[in-house]
Amino acid sequence: MIYLDNAATSWPKPPGVADAMVRFLRDVGASPGRSGHALANEAERIRLDAREAVAELLGLRNPLRVVFTANATAALNLVLHGLLTPGAHVVISGMEHNAVMRPLRSLETGGAAVTIVPCGADGALTAADIEEYLRPTTRLLVVNHASNVCGTVQPVGEIAALARRHGIALLVDAAQTGGCRPIDVTGDGIDLLAFSGHKGLLGPTGTGGLVIHEDFDIDRLPALIQGGTGSRSEHERQPDFLPDKYEAGTPNIVGLAGLAAGVRFVLERGVEAIRRHEQDLTGRLLAGLREIAGVRILGPQDAGQRAAVVSFTVAGRASSDVAYELEQRFGVLCRPGLHCAPLAHRTLGTLPGGTVRFAPGLFNTVEQIAAAVDAVREVAGAATHG
Ligand code: ALA
Repeated sequence: MIYLDNAATSWPKPPGVADAMVRFLRDVGASPGRSGHALANEAERIRLDAREAVAELLGLRNPLRVVFTANATAALNLVLHGLLTPGAHVVISGMEHNAVMRPLRSLETGGAAVTIVPCGADGALTAADIEEYLRPTTRLLVVNHASNVCGTVQPVGEIAALARRHGIALLVDAAQTGGCRPIDVTGDGIDLLAFSGHKGLLGPTGTGGLVIHEDFDIDRLPALIQGGTGSRSEHERQPDFLPDKYEAGTPNIVGLAGLAAGVRFVLERGVEAIRRHEQDLTGRLLAGLREIAGVRILGPQDAGQRAAVVSFTVAGRASSDVAYELEQRFGVLCRPGLHCAPLAHRTLGTLPGGTVRFAPGLFNTVEQIAAAVDAVREVAGAATHG
């Protein structure tokens, strides 16, 4: 089996992830931040370890500014619903996922205004492209760091500088880049960054969060979910401090135990080394697929300008049929269709059929990539020759 669906969720995980989760369930089991007994304190220590690891990975000095949520989608919703009051204007790239589009379409009916900045045919955007769309009412800029459809990486440092010049908050969706590319929230001046815990951070599903820059005033961002935090229990109002303000309810602490192990593995291996490996695999995929008649690759042709995500079409074949055949005949697992990102597919010109997406990860090998390319050659050859 060749798993090339790491953009949906990474697999396999480093062995320490399952070990940490089993250890938590077997030996700890308690709810963090409450009760004050030994097991609860150990659970809180594990959660703090996860926060510290994520803060180190994403370039944040204060780990208490890492807020855990169920996934990147929940973090994006927290910001979009919190900042976009009626009359507010938001500017987004033409490569956003439905985790951004669906909340925005809902907020539009409540009076928010949405502007989509067109991207190039490969999904690329510059800060200058965005500037002309800003208005006095623009409250927020939202940019997908790397497309989950075709890997296009946006210049978030330049975009952050633009946002700061105009006094507009920037929200970066780093679901596809966290753990796979260097990210420096503090250095780049990114106000808010949503991350997924179960992709490049190598943790389990059900983990993710929001990273909040030191300069961002959290009084601007109301809590979307309110409830018990284990702190200030005498108050019926939500705490106004981090991270409790945004972490009501018993957390997915078994997931956070796994996430801490995943991120520690990434830190040990080194993000730059991971990026190099994934870029090498991506370059091999691009070079191999390019040689196959009937295959069209979407997005940047240079592996250096994309995350490890390669989308392609096969002439005359539906993407779902190609993926089915790749799995049934060759054991290649990938994701076909629209990848929950119809806007990005509109930008790329691949609506309504979508693409076949190969997303290699840290644990894929060059041999697997060569075998996957051979498999596509077989499938496309059969299509071309009837
Ligand atoms: N999980 C989504 C995907 O598979 C983002 O692309």
